[in-house]
Amino acid sequence: MGKDVIIACDFDSAEKTFAFLDKFTGKKPFVKIGMELYYAEGPSIVKEIKKRGHKIFLDLKLHDIPNTVKKGMAVLSRLDVDMTNLHAAGTKRMMEAAIEGLTRPDGTRPLLIAVTQLTSTDQESMENDLLIKAPIDEVVMHYASCARDAGLDGVVCSPLEAGKVHARCGEGFVTVTPGVRFADGDVGDQKRVMTPAEAKKIGSDYIVVGRPITAADDPVAAYERCCREFID
Ligand code: C5P
Repeated sequence: MGKDVIIACDFDSAEKTFAFLDKFTGKKPFVKIGMELYYAEGPSIVKEIKKRGHKIFLDLKLHDIPNTVKKGMAVLSRLDVDMTNLHAAGTKRMMEAAIEGLTRPDGTRPLLIAVTQLTSTDQESMENDLLIKAPIDEVVMHYASCARDAGLDGVVCSPLEAGKVHARCGEGFVTVTPGVRFADGDVGDQKRVMTPAEAKKIGSDYIVVGRPITAADDPVAAYERCCREFID
């Protein structure tokens, strides 16, 4: 499994995104395109970043009836992204349909990762709003197992959950973990954070890092520091 640092390009325009990416003249970082940038610029932003030689995690978190997700994924597979995702809450049948849609005629497909419970959901909101009464840790692990059984490649989870996910679903099941901060950096609005070195120790496969890199005075140096701490 290729350990890598994925930069969350949470910008609202192509202009700001390219101004940021232009700073990287050496190694081309793996980038995450989320709803904000995709809804602002559409598929062209994916194609342009791909053309520049970056790997792309398209973070659109699909969740709909199986047939709709299958067709949506078929369109995304043609964008030639490297990783994309969906909500495990859409059920195993939806996840299986997603894989079918995502698989290209030649049998290849991007990595498909599930969101279990969003980290913004806590025990109280899960019980009161979603009427799910089990402990949230159990729910996260159950959703991860369902994703694995449906044939997905891994889950997005907090770095604190990565070890448990590997223990339950196997070492080859990919963990993609946001909520990463430098030991001497700002935590911001993230609640449960880990340093890149800690994420490495606990076995995360990919870390997703946004503001510690995008808002740094020297984003390239911050990215290189992440790579040094997480990969080397
Ligand atoms: O700026 P920061 O490093 O907090 O960015 C983290 C990125 O990971 C953002 O794009 C955020 O939406 C995403 N993310 C997250 N927590 C999750 C899932 C995704 O922070 N549970």
